[in-house]
Amino acid sequence: MSTALRGIPHVRSLGAAGALQQLVLKALSGMTVGALELRLPNGETHRFGRTDEAPSAIVTVERVDLFRRIALRPRLGLGESYVAGDWHADDLVALFEVLLRNTAAVRARPPLSTLLALERRLPRLPARQGRRQAERNIHYHYDIGNELYALFLDESLTYSCAYFERPDETLAQAQQNKYRRICDKLALSAEDHLLEIGCGWGGFAIHAARERGARVTGLTISREQLELAQKRVSDAGLAHRVQIVYRDYRAVEGQFTKIASIEMLEAIGHEQYGTFFAACDRLLAPGGIACIQTIAIPDQRYESYRRTRDWIQEYIFPGSLLPSLTALTNAMTRHSSLLVFGLEDIGIHYADTLRGWRERFLANIEQVRALGYDESFERSWEFYLAYCEAAFATRSLRDLQLVLTRSFNDRLPRYPAWRMSF
Ligand SMILES: C[S@@+](CC[C@H](N)C(=O)[O-])C[C@H]1O[C@@H](n2cnc3c(N)ncnc32)[C@H](O)[C@@H]1O
Repeated sequence: MSTALRGIPHVRSLGAAGALQQLVLKALSGMTVGALELRLPNGETHRFGRTDEAPSAIVTVERVDLFRRIALRPRLGLGESYVAGDWHADDLVALFEVLLRNTAAVRARPPLSTLLALERRLPRLPARQGRRQAERNIHYHYDIGNELYALFLDESLTYSCAYFERPDETLAQAQQNKYRRICDKLALSAEDHLLEIGCGWGGFAIHAARERGARVTGLTISREQLELAQKRVSDAGLAHRVQIVYRDYRAVEGQFTKIASIEMLEAIGHEQYGTFFAACDRLLAPGGIACIQTIAIPDQRYESYRRTRDWIQEYIFPGSLLPSLTALTNAMTRHSSLLVFGLEDIGIHYADTLRGWRERFLANIEQVRALGYDESFERSWEFYLAYCEAAFATRSLRDLQLVLTRSFNDRLPRYPAWRMSF
């Protein structure tokens, strides 16, 4: 088990902090929505946007390395400098909301626009992921200690977007709502053998077996998840119905009446979408239904996003890529006989989910430290959780539930127990 993240590069050798600071200030002067106050180490304060408009945030710069890092690596520098302790904000989520709502305007300002265009041209290594690489990537994020995840997830250890049916619900209730809705979408019953691709710590497998009586085979490629998920299944008295196995989805054989996959697709990358849907097609019995939940990037941004690498991919989820709905449906059409039968965007619930995780992470920070995680880990995870919360709150990112099936499926419910909502 490792409690360390990959290190961030040094930037002191890059001089010209004054000119680079001007570059960033000029870009920020393009802001049109919300308010940002920037307090510099020399005592100067700069204000951007509309001072009386939410969202608003105050950033205090401790070291001008912030500007060096942004100029050197425009897509990574803000996160790298936060982790290095170059700056802090009074409200990190509000700051990201301001930045996200102004991204287009700020990035369009030269010379930042030129730096971003240059960065886009840098060659990227091919994103093809063999099984070994997939295991290495998952190991980096998930095999860092189950105790850490238990300190911020709800008691079902669910690591995906919940569904809040009422504002006063707890995160644990909202995770069970999400599970119930997926079971409804799958029309899951005791007749079914469900394959869960990417079962995490077994929360959904346990729910599906306990609440619907289904047989479940759950897949993970994290050793730590495997061990704990198997124990949780056995503690729940469900070992006769649920089998958790360490296996890549590409290596599975047999047929299943239902398939579920909850936020696993983000791990596989563009080149593998066809392989994924071909595998679902091969593994799903005639008359079967699949329900896939995935984070997604808006279609219009997908092509430029997938040609670059962002801070989350570099430090939090190596090898990951957020799909777009178009990329997924194109791959599905080309490589399988599956069709989209239902579609729901539950992304707005991710803001509340992530807020719950971040609040618990920070409330338990002493225990996180006691487990051996250092300050840069702590700052990275705070940045990651806050950034994602803002991205979902502003609908800059989506979270999709796709219900898939094939033509001529007479077993599909005429009056489904679920309704789409946006
Ligand atoms: C974000 S977690 C989601 C876990 C769970 N579905 C949940 O909602 O709590 C992603 C899961 O996908 C699994 N995974 C990623 N790539 C995989 C692959 N190639 N084959 C099988 N499982 C994979 C990981 O091991 C992990 O369990």
